[in-house]
Amino acid sequence: MNTSTADPRLLGRTVRRIVYSKDQIAERVHELGVEITKSYPDGELLVLGLLKGSFIFLSDLVREVTRPLQVDFLVASSYGDSTVSSGNVRLLYDPETELEGKHILLVEDIVDTGRTLSRLMDLLQARKPQSVEICALLHKHLATELRYPTRFIGFDAPNEFLVGYGLDHAENFRHIPYIASLQ
Ligand code: IMP
Ligand code: MG
Repeated sequence: MNTSTADPRLLGRTVRRIVYSKDQIAERVHELGVEITKSYPDGELLVLGLLKGSFIFLSDLVREVTRPLQVDFLVASSYGDSTVSSGNVRLLYDPETELEGKHILLVEDIVDTGRTLSRLMDLLQARKPQSVEICALLHKHLATELRYPTRFIGFDAPNEFLVGYGLDHAENFRHIPYIASLQ
């Protein structure tokens, strides 16, 4: 495993530890794809990625699902202060795809407090889909505010700030192919 502190992608920062390697992620994403395929034996499946954090996970995940599906994205924003979430959520990009009657799989990078997800789930439920489930690559299990279960979870994440594989710190490091905590 390359834990080189000289990774040129890291803006001079150093890796404290690699939490999930590229291979570990690929193996787990494959397993999730199999699980999701089995969980939806019929009906129309719409995989909805929550931007931006889910973009890499979603693109790998859908290629491991061996049944028909559609892909769309949504962009959510909390009202007001960006560092302390107010609990209100607003859609900056609303999926153009019809949700009614479909199985919706909402794909998220990481569940932390679950605040945004709870609001989004309420909003999606109101559009009368056949079902709505959450698939999160990482779950910190601190989500006291998430009123919905996370049906599919990649990894139970440690309570550290993680970057890579879509996860950012101030918009950097999303393209790192492994998941790491930085020094
Ligand atoms: P929540 O609404 O508090 O669950 O926040 C979830 C969002 O916070 C995720 O979609 C990420 O964008 C961000 N986030 C939470 N924990 C981390 C982390 O460890 N690294 C990077 N982003 C994180
Ligand atoms: Mg983020």
